[in-house]
Amino acid sequence: MVGAMNRRAAILREMGLAPVWRLRSSPAAERTDVEAPAPVSAPQPEQQQERVRPTLAVPVPSSAAGAVVAAGLDWDTLESAIRECRACRLHERRNKAVPGVGDRQADWLFVGEGPGAEEDQRGEPFVGQAGKLLDAMLAAIGLARGRNVYIANAVKCRPPGNRTPEADEIATCQPYLERQIELIQPRIIVALGRPAAQTLLGGEVKINAVRGRLLDHGGIPVVVTYHPAYLLRNPHDKAKAWEDLCFARASLG
Ligand code: URA
Repeated sequence: MVGAMNRRAAILREMGLAPVWRLRSSPAAERTDVEAPAPVSAPQPEQQQERVRPTLAVPVPSSAAGAVVAAGLDWDTLESAIRECRACRLHERRNKAVPGVGDRQADWLFVGEGPGAEEDQRGEPFVGQAGKLLDAMLAAIGLARGRNVYIANAVKCRPPGNRTPEADEIATCQPYLERQIELIQPRIIVALGRPAAQTLLGGEVKINAVRGRLLDHGGIPVVVTYHPAYLLRNPHDKAKAWEDLCFARASLG
């Protein structure tokens, strides 16, 4: 029990959240763990999921030489196709493409932006510093990488210098993500950062404008929060990310 409480305190410390919510005037003040705050605006049962246009920010170029065909592929074929993909310029400087990792029947799908340097070396998403924080974020809501969680990215190859992927790179890669979503059939998708949110929701998205809302991608609820790399640079926003994750968890019921 104490071990579990210490572990929880450690996770929340890692998230930059402890000991923010310790109550001083109640017996709980003596505890070393921290209670999760209530979700900012947990959806009510009658709340309708917002229908944000599930179209692409930029249509996949059907006639382009690099157009990707992912429809109908099984997991193995899909992952091979991603690893061998040369459909856009990102393949030129990649070490390894990064298809995704985790439970292929997960309720939770987390979508990031694109692989960084360590991910490009290892072929696995979120294994660097941002990945450590993502793991802490997962743990903070009782989840763990690979257990009922799948992690993927909007683009599967590292943008040089970790630049933001271009709209045409995201659009070219999007059929891979769409097929992953079809195969996983998650109950909820968490978009980490703006490029992921724009990929899933279409059009221009401002994180602060869409946080705390239950959005939609082809009938699957989408919650948007900050990218872990952003949170590493802006730790004061970790509490908001925590709210977003609690909101996502509450919306699953
Ligand atoms: N940032 C991302 O968006 N994805 C990764 O896999 C790693 C860092």
